[in-house]
Amino acid sequence: MDFTLSEEQLMIQQAARDFAQTELLPGVIERDDAQKFPEEQIKKLGELGFLGMMVDPKYGGSGLDTLSYAIAMEELSKVDASSSVVVSVNNSLVCWGLEAFASEAQKQKYLTKLTTGEMIGAFCLSEPEAGSDATSQKTTAIDKGDHYLLNGTKNWITNGSTAGVYLVIAQTDIEKGHKGINALIVEKGTPGFEIGPKENKLGIRGSDTHSLMFNDVKVPKENRIGEDGFGFKFAMKTLSGGRIGIAAQALGIAAGAYELALKYSKERKSFGTEICNHQAIAFKLADMHTEIEAARLLVYKAALDKDNGNNYDLSSAMAKLFASKVAMDTTVEAVQIHGGNGFVKDYHVERLMRDAKITQIYEGTSEIQKIVISRSIIKQ
Ligand code: CAA
Repeated sequence: MDFTLSEEQLMIQQAARDFAQTELLPGVIERDDAQKFPEEQIKKLGELGFLGMMVDPKYGGSGLDTLSYAIAMEELSKVDASSSVVVSVNNSLVCWGLEAFASEAQKQKYLTKLTTGEMIGAFCLSEPEAGSDATSQKTTAIDKGDHYLLNGTKNWITNGSTAGVYLVIAQTDIEKGHKGINALIVEKGTPGFEIGPKENKLGIRGSDTHSLMFNDVKVPKENRIGEDGFGFKFAMKTLSGGRIGIAAQALGIAAGAYELALKYSKERKSFGTEICNHQAIAFKLADMHTEIEAARLLVYKAALDKDNGNNYDLSSAMAKLFASKVAMDTTVEAVQIHGGNGFVKDYHVERLMRDAKITQIYEGTSEIQKIVISRSIIKQ
């Protein structure tokens, strides 16, 4: 096994690291406080090719592999997970889903704009009563010949008000269960499509999370992705890749908190020495470093599985399950190492701790990842 990154991957890592320091770090605390969407930062990320990283250049993408995307996600997330979730959703749930399964006309119309950041996308699966239990879709898309009539509510939608295009999962034929579900492309501004108020969240407060209401929204038939009834498989296949992005985000949050804690422990003195010289702190750093490295290897393995054409349902679920736990554990310890300063916003670690929590919830909770993992190993 060769864990050496290529020249290109190292360049991407450096570019993402530089961007995080120069563009994301300034104002990150204020954006979190004010729940301000990182509009300028996302625009620049689009111009630099970070929003369509894995898409073929013929659609405006950067044509990179999944590992490069995961590396970039880690670096951006070390500093600003509110921005990196936009990168993750746009890349792996929206752009990847469209490139893999949309028609050529849909790709020309939407993908070319989503890769450059001319507009960003949203992925709309969750509902008030269908979060983990994703086959229980209450939103309906009734077949009316040349269009679908869309009715229902979606919840906790990332990029809820800032997206220009929404991939909406809805039930067309209840009799067919999950085989009667479709994925539809819905443009912002379509009559009957309303955006609810912004959620006031614990973490990733700069990201833009809303409920969406669809009231007799007419969606042209040509906006359906794939064959009739492909919507649930579309959601599941897309989420398998999305979980690599969120695992990389969790890894970045953990690594960012660890780097801050290590630096602080070499500067802060107590009992006549830098606190890193106390075994109580040194052992915490040892655990953090080891767990982060293990999480990184799982994230890279999942990314390589995807790049090598292997099945990655299992490896992406394991990477997300483990990396999100490491993010939670590491950020809690990073706050502890910072002591009273860790409880204060200026030191960043309390924000990273709040941001870490969502990685155990979105794109499938940790419990859902355990369902995916256990079913997969029992089937083998
Ligand atoms: N790829 C392809 N098909 C898949 C699949 C995959 N990874 N996983 C399941 N399927 C298929 C199954 O094969 C089955 O099809 P067949 O009957 O033809 O075999 C069908 O989907 C239904 O599968 P299950 O019987 O396994 O369904 P289930 O009801 O037991 O649930 C589940 C499966 C894994 C729990 C699924 O419901 C799930 O992943 N839930 C979590 C949903 C989720 O991740 N939500 C996150 C919302 S998006 C988000 O957070 C984005 C954001 O904004 C950041």
